[in-house]
Amino acid sequence: MSAVPLVRRVDSRFSKLAHCRCCRSKPGNLIIICIYASSAKEPTLKYLCNSDRVKEGKSVGFEVEGLALMAIRRAGQIYVYRNRCPHRGVALEWQPDQFLDSSASLIQCATHGALFLIESGECVAGPCEGQALGAIACAEDADGVWINLPEQARDD
Ligand code: FES
Repeated sequence: MSAVPLVRRVDSRFSKLAHCRCCRSKPGNLIIICIYASSAKEPTLKYLCNSDRVKEGKSVGFEVEGLALMAIRRAGQIYVYRNRCPHRGVALEWQPDQFLDSSASLIQCATHGALFLIESGECVAGPCEGQALGAIACAEDADGVWINLPEQARDD
């Protein structure tokens, strides 16, 4: 099932969220965030890290509620994906926090070398070409980086 952006009301704690990269929603009088509506269950908003933790052109691995994730910053924008290759379902990194190829312009799977676009997670070369990494909806504000974990992600 493909993920569909959806705007939902949330409580006032999250009124400072910056725009969402998947639907470009912006905070205003209406308190909104963007989530992926791939599950009928409610998603859970979680604090991931301070903004300084993911530096420009770098990647960092995380584990949140038993899910392996990676965050990458490129051109100032933060991207978060499941740390799971769509080819064999294994972790992607070469070493801790090392998810990028030598040019730091693509995500690379350490097992068979598949290459993924940082901006979309799409595989552009390798055995899973045309498939994509599992994107995690995220936003950044003055407090740091926030992610939205759909229930479905925690179930699979
Ligand atoms: S497991 Fe990632 S490319 Fe094969």
